[in-house]
Amino acid sequence: MGETLLTDVDHVAIAVKDLDEALAWYVRVFGASLAHRERIESDGVEEALIKVGTSYIQLLSPFRDDSPVARYLAQRGEGLHHVGYRVADCAQALAAVKSAGARVIDDAPRPGSRGTTVAFVHPKGALGTLIELVEE
Ligand code: CO
Repeated sequence: MGETLLTDVDHVAIAVKDLDEALAWYVRVFGASLAHRERIESDGVEEALIKVGTSYIQLLSPFRDDSPVARYLAQRGEGLHHVGYRVADCAQALAAVKSAGARVIDDAPRPGSRGTTVAFVHPKGALGTLIELVEE
């Protein structure tokens, strides 16, 4: 076995209908506080990040009906949407994952929130989990 590509869990993403309500729930129940909030135009979503250790909980809510997260909510309701793993180099990790036979959604890395570089791995063939590779 070579060295692992994954250096940390960057975030766990939860699809929610109402971002303010979801954030208020985390604040009330866990005493959490908002670390970052951002509207990601290309994905049609707004995120609220809550810091947990070296990772984040990413609450994710669509603001457009054609957003993938809107389709997810319509089909499956609120819940776990994807896991973001931190990698040192997104392009290199994506190439390694592809050459290992995994099916990818993004053929090349693209800009994520917080100035990160990201790429998604398809849940089919990835144990049913949508995976995001995140380079900070
Ligand atoms: Co994410």
